[in-house]
Formats: sequence, structure tokens, C-alpha cells
Amino acid sequence: TIGHKDVKLGDEETQGLRVKVSGRIHHLRPQKHATFITLADGYGFLQCVLAAGDLTKSYDAVMFALGTSLTVYGEMKKVPASQSAPDNRELHVDYYKVIGHAPADKEALTNRVSASQNQWDSQMLDHRHLVLRGENASSLIKTRAALELAFIQFYAKAKFTKLSPPALVQTQVEGGSTLFKVPYYDEDAYLTQTSQLYLETALPSFGNVYCIEKSFRAEKSLTRRHLSEYTHVEAEMDFIEFSDLLDHLEEIICSVIDTVLADDEIASYIRKMNPGFEAPSRPFLRMRYSDAIDWLNSQDPPILNEFDAPHTFGDDIAEAAERKMTDIINRPIFLTHFPADLKAFYMKKDSSDLRVTESVDVLMPGVGEIVGASMRMEDYDELMDAFKRHGISPDAYYWYNDQRRYGTSPHGGYGLGLERLLAWVCKQHTVRTCCMYPRFMGRCRP
Ligand code: 4AD
Ligand code: MG
Repeated sequence: TIGHKDVKLGDEETQGLRVKVSGRIHHLRPQKHATFITLADGYGFLQCVLAAGDLTKSYDAVMFALGTSLTVYGEMKKVPASQSAPDNRELHVDYYKVIGHAPADKEALTNRVSASQNQWDSQMLDHRHLVLRGENASSLIKTRAALELAFIQFYAKAKFTKLSPPALVQTQVEGGSTLFKVPYYDEDAYLTQTSQLYLETALPSFGNVYCIEKSFRAEKSLTRRHLSEYTHVEAEMDFIEFSDLLDHLEEIICSVIDTVLADDEIASYIRKMNPGFEAPSRPFLRMRYSDAIDWLNSQDPPILNEFDAPHTFGDDIAEAAERKMTDIINRPIFLTHFPADLKAFYMKKDSSDLRVTESVDVLMPGVGEIVGASMRMEDYDELMDAFKRHGISPDAYYWYNDQRRYGTSPHGGYGLGLERLLAWVCKQHTVRTCCMYPRFMGRCRP
């Protein structure tokens, strides 16, 4: 073949050039005088025009089933916006080569999956590897990647050190009932529920730290927002007060959203999936747990607790009630000062009301809790009492407790579920579409 430039789609300046592009057939429109193919290469889409005469006599639809991979050569031409070709350009193909055929039987599962179809039904999930090729699924995962990158950039700028704590651990942190136990040579181990304790031990060495690692929870119920394996953005900050933690959370959430919205490609995906999305405005609404209880009871009709009774101080605010509240208030909420009895052993008590902790959950409309955060108990003896109250033997935590024995400090941190953040930003019904291959009770494949 004569001269050509090897290109990927996306933002390459290719107009007027003869190019070579490889990708897969995303869409096909055979017409009388020409066949229009939309080619996808993971970076973008390209309308390719094959004049009818260019096709071999043996042309048949099977050859061009969706998903077929091919290399095309031809001249890139600009076309008017009225033709609604991706990036207003079109490749006039003068030569092509099929690389890999695709049988037509699974076409319906790939790019034909519309936004309104349940990508989370079990047939779709069995074919997740094909569904991911579709525009809806892939733009969601691209948005996820952009959010993750925005966190990394924020932390780099704020001089947090990125760490990689272990996934195999021998301590529980967020309740024994959601532990995955794994055989570990001659002993038992668990898959980590959170990297928090390890991050705390790192404060003296690095100052503020963060990690983006998998956390594992053996959630024994099927909900819209619980996975067995999820991506946990966690950070820990040294020598801070509770108000610093709240300020930081507001700043990082707003900054990450601003960063992704500043990217035209990602912003267009978000607008498509969630047309009404707006960057949250500061300050977030701050509401104490006790006020939330009053708020739930003051609704008409009142929003009841798990036992269909009005909420009283000390009740867990269950997922449904929390979501109702967040949807009605319809803006980000800092829900603060949870009772100590409802929360994990490590949370520091509020010195002005010892029933409650310096804790905060960040709630977002449509999803509810996306962040769990608190100041940590920094006093050794108090921590020992807390272990006792929660019925946990402190021995396995000696390395954590030493943080208090060797130069303790007021410190705090948080964990944010990346899938829940994405579900909020992109208005997803469930977190199951917010990761490549969701894991939840009953599903561990593909
Ligand atoms: O509220 P959680 O359990 O808090 C912790 O694990 C703390 N140790 C974090 C920390 O302070 N470093 O979990 C934190 C967040 C939740 O707000 C939620 O977004 C997400 O992790 N999360 C889940 N996401 C998907 N599936 C699950 N099963 C989740 N459990 C928690
Ligand atoms: Mg929580």
C-alpha cells in the first residue's frame, strides 16, 4: 500500500492524510451505494465509508458482524456537523483487511445495550466482557478511571504519600460478620476490609498518606450499593482536628469533580449519563446524627426505622431511610457525630458529648453514604477500653496500638468507595455497573 500514517482515534490531527487505523466494528449501516462502518479502537470512533464497488463480490453480512476487528486504510476527510459523524470526520476507505471475524450471535449484548437496559441483569453480567465493549459501559469505566486519576493528582499536589498496604491481614476492623477468611499456610488470614489501620501506622514515617486499594466485604445481602470487592480510596492525616477533616473532604470531593468536568470527553460522558449533574456547591450541609433522627421523624409521613417505628437516638439509620433523606434534601450532606455504639472501635469520642464520636459520613443524592470518616482514638488506655467494649482481643493489634505508645498524635482519616462516587456522578442505579467485573454474593465470574 502507498504511504500512510498509523493512527489511533481520539485527538490525532489527521485531516487530509491517508491513514491506517485498526479497531472493531461498532456499528454498521449498509446502503445501496456505500457501506458505513463505525470503527471503535478504544480511543474514539470513526465513520468509515466503503463505496459499494470497493467491496469484494463475496461480501456478506457475516463478514462485517459487529465486533469484527479490521484494519482500514484511506483518506480522512472533514464532514459537516449535520452528518453527525464522530468528530465530524470520515475515512474514505481504499483498502481494508479483516483481522478477526466475530459471530453475530452476541451482537445484542455489546454496543446495542442502551442506557435504559439493565446492564446488571444476570445475562448481561455473564457477558460482561462483551457488554464492556459498548459505549454506555465503556464511557462509565473511562469516567471511573478519570476520577481515580483526579484523586492521585490531588494527593500528589497536597504531598500525600501513596502507600500499598497488605490485602491479606489477621485483624478485623469493620465488623467480624463481613470478613472473608482464607487459609494462609498453617494459619488463617482475612481479606482486608480497609487499609486504615496500616495507614495510621505510617503517619510518623510519611506525614499524610493515602492508598487506592481493594477492600473486601462478605456482605450477606444483595443491595444496590454493596459489593464483595470494591475500590477504596483511603487517606489518613496527622496532627489534625475534626474540622480539618471535614474541610479536607469538602475540598477533595469538589476538586475531583472539577477536574473530571474540565475534561471535555469525560464531561460529555457524564452529561449523557446524568444530564442534571452539577458540581456540588460548598459548604456541604452539616447535620448531626441527632438532628437527622429528628428530621426523619418530622417528615410527613415520618421516615421509620428498620422496625417500622419512629427513629430514636441510638438507632442505625438504615440504607433506605438514609437514601430517602439524601434524595429529599438533594445535596451533599456531612452527617456527623454518630453514637459510639453504632460505629467501629477506633473512633474518637466527642469531648463535649461522650455518647457520640467525631465521625462523619458523606451522603450523596441517589446513593447515600459514599465516605466514612472519623478522628481516631489517640489515647492508648481509651483504645484498650474500646477493644474491650467491642469484645475484640487487642493482642493481634499490637502494631496498631504501638502508634499510641510511641508518640501518639491527634489524627483522622476516611475511606471513599470509588464505585459509589461513580454511581452518584453518573446516576447509576447500582454500583454493579461501576466496576469492570462486579463481585457480590452469588457472583464471582467472569
Ligand atoms: O464506612 P466504611 O466501612 O469505613 C471504613 O472502612 C473505614 N475504615 C474507612 C477509613 O476511615 N479509612 O467504608 C468506607 C466506604 C463507605 O462509605 C462506602 O463508600 C464504601 O467504603 N463501602 C463499600 N462500597 C461498596 N461495597 C461495599 N460492600 C462497601 N462497604 C463500604
Ligand atoms: Mg460506613
